[in-house]
Amino acid sequence: MMHGTSSSDFPYAINDVEPEEFAELQKTFNTAFIDGYVRVGPKGYFLRSGYRKEAAKIYNMPLRLDDIWVVSFPRSGTTWVQEMVWMIAKDFDYETSKDVLLINRFPFLEANVINGDKALKKIKELSAGKEENIKVFLSSEVDLAADRPSPRFFKSHLPLSLLPPSLLATSRVVYVARDPRDVAVSYYYHYKLFAFFGYFGNFKQFWESFVKGDADYCPYFEHLKEVWGQRHHANLLILFYEDLIKDLPGSIRRVARFLGKEPSEAQVRALSEHLKFDNFKKNKSVNNEPFMHLSDQNVAKTVSFMRKGKAGGWREHFDEQMAAQAQQWIDDNLRGTDLRFPEHY
Ligand code: A3P
Repeated sequence: MMHGTSSSDFPYAINDVEPEEFAELQKTFNTAFIDGYVRVGPKGYFLRSGYRKEAAKIYNMPLRLDDIWVVSFPRSGTTWVQEMVWMIAKDFDYETSKDVLLINRFPFLEANVINGDKALKKIKELSAGKEENIKVFLSSEVDLAADRPSPRFFKSHLPLSLLPPSLLATSRVVYVARDPRDVAVSYYYHYKLFAFFGYFGNFKQFWESFVKGDADYCPYFEHLKEVWGQRHHANLLILFYEDLIKDLPGSIRRVARFLGKEPSEAQVRALSEHLKFDNFKKNKSVNNEPFMHLSDQNVAKTVSFMRKGKAGGWREHFDEQMAAQAQQWIDDNLRGTDLRFPEHY
């Protein structure tokens, strides 16, 4: 069933994925929890069909000069950078950081369309008595944003072209990037962890889908290259996960400069400690524990939202042939650009 949408307040076509493609997805996805997928615009971004109802609203969302955004492809270190950005922007307010969940301090713009009606039904069933935890999935952040006090913080996994066109001219944006091989491994476990994603394939199959652009928010390189093309924009800071791993205090100082703050060495040291993986993983304000009742309890015995926190862990998941194919795919995509992932070993 083809079903296209585009209108004067949203410039791109939104098309249902072709029936053959959906049938292909069913080989590794239990689509009982999936309403449908769409391809958006010329790059063919792969999103849940619920995105249709929010696309124009997000694209035309009113912005403020002091809004601060963290934008990324999923599993790139978004949560880590959100907490870093929030702490610096709020002058190290550890008390509020502890008392108010990150998801409420730093809302996820398109959270209401990432699941779809079928998954939401399951999520509601699983959340009896915990309705408060799933509020973010139920209402449009664009609507709520109008009443939020400044400075507002937004997280989005949408590519730049699907966000308001005046975003960089108006607000500050921190984009987080990560080696796509580590992203794919992390994303695979994320799909496995939450049963309502319905993923039952193995990693090799997931990797093939990821490269083909058949996972939420793909194609990966288009997402990254859109931002890379704007890398000299004064309102954009691109951070690599690998650099955060290598030099957390240095990354804190870069973010502080970008936000016009001058933290003391002691403040930088304390924030590095707060953001260290072992501490972060235990921190209930950021570790997404309120959503863990939605996880597959078997998978959750060995996998958590904060999983390994390492750069280069992909090597344990790729056989020789996959590693060679991945290198080729990365080389092909980097050719003719000066985009390079930082060495991390
Ligand atoms: P892994 O699954 O490889 O461990 P996102 O927030 O974009 O979903 O990214 C999640 C990834 O960031 C996970 O990767 C998670 O462990 C990692 N991460 C989160 N906090 C971290 C921290 N403080 N230090 C290092 N990695 C962190």
